[in-house]
Amino acid sequence: MENNKEKYQTTIIDYGYDGEGIGKLNGKVCFIPYTLKGELVEFKIIEDKKDFCKCSLLNVLHSSNDRISPLCPYFSKCGGCAYQHINYKKELEIKKELLKNQLQKIDFHGDIEIVASPKEYNYRNKIKIFLENGKLGLKERKSNKICEIKGCKLVKNLINNAINILKNFVKNNNHFKSLSNIVIRQEEEQCLVNFFVKRKIEKKIYFQIYDKLGENYGIFETFNNQTSYICGIEKLKSLEFGLTCYFSALSFHQVNNDVCNLLYKKISDEIEGKNIINCYSGNGVLSGILSKKCLNIEAIELGDKEHQEAEDLKQINFLNNLTNIHGDCSKEILRLKEDFDTIIVDPPRNGLSRIVAERINSKKFKKFIYVSCNSATLVRDLKLMTNYKIDKVMLFDMFAKTGEYETLVILSKI
Ligand SMILES: C[S@@+](CC[C@H](N)C(=O)[O-])C[C@H]1O[C@@H](n2cnc3c(N)ncnc32)[C@H](O)[C@@H]1O
Repeated sequence: MENNKEKYQTTIIDYGYDGEGIGKLNGKVCFIPYTLKGELVEFKIIEDKKDFCKCSLLNVLHSSNDRISPLCPYFSKCGGCAYQHINYKKELEIKKELLKNQLQKIDFHGDIEIVASPKEYNYRNKIKIFLENGKLGLKERKSNKICEIKGCKLVKNLINNAINILKNFVKNNNHFKSLSNIVIRQEEEQCLVNFFVKRKIEKKIYFQIYDKLGENYGIFETFNNQTSYICGIEKLKSLEFGLTCYFSALSFHQVNNDVCNLLYKKISDEIEGKNIINCYSGNGVLSGILSKKCLNIEAIELGDKEHQEAEDLKQINFLNNLTNIHGDCSKEILRLKEDFDTIIVDPPRNGLSRIVAERINSKKFKKFIYVSCNSATLVRDLKLMTNYKIDKVMLFDMFAKTGEYETLVILSKI
């Protein structure tokens, strides 16, 4: 196709899976990020593939009424956000349309209820930042290059405060040459900062950082997959849903507390029967909430840290009807003897293993609740569920401004 220095024009006619606009050039599909349907845009070709072109936006010649100015100065360079150029109502409409397109593949044409994020910005409780040539930042869109940042509009206040202090500290500091990334996590007014390093850093350097960060922070170092506590706060405490929970610097936790609470509340309202099984159960908060609504609950989780936190949560809150199973769902689900009424699954992006999917289908639970962060694998798995019908689909906007969202599907046996 044409020389990639050239500028072209097209009108956006649709959206791709990542929410990027689709236009056509001589009949060939062109993916142009940060554009909206109906807009006339000027673009250039970045990669000319056999069936489509990856492009970058140069100018919006005729803009949509839904277009707004992005809040973040790094928007479109930093790969974190996909939708700062449009109003939130439109963002939710696009996400719904993308999910609807996926679900049509399994002949679902019903309603999709949307649960918006109460906060569009400053909601994320976690960030992973990278260091490259003295620059601290986030990855550029679909690239490993680092976009240097002074802060991120999506994260909570203490995380941005930490980024601001760290960026001056690590810049041109030889001690941090071996740093891969830093994970910062905030819960309420406390924050843990975990340095992932290829060579250990002297403790006195961390103490200097702690002095600057202050007593609301805790510092950890992870070297060779081993995490050591250095100083400050050791665990984050949360009191959501009447449970006392302690989180470490490492375990999985949903990134948007407000939306997570709405999601857990909905699941809790939907469970049916006395015996519940929660697969891919994470740090145990959801299991803890559900344990108050049933006679018996079993939770399966593979991660060591997550399982340990779930066990601590059970002990601290006296949840005697909860059993935490430490293992792989593909194996553990075959061992379960009990007849469960409701099954909940919340797998990672790669979805259910074939074994788990087939077991769920053959067991014909009264209710099957699937939480998914990847609509492609969700649809693949739902295709196998010949013994269930879909009663409800909800989109929870856990990741406002980014291309991601969480889907909740409630099914019942036929
Ligand atoms: C998307 S998270 C959901 C966690 C939890 N439901 C929550 O809301 O916090 C997926 C979880 O599945 C766990 N996991 C990944 N593969 C697994 C497997 N094969 N068996 C059991 N758990 C697994 C991960 O450690 C992670 O905690």
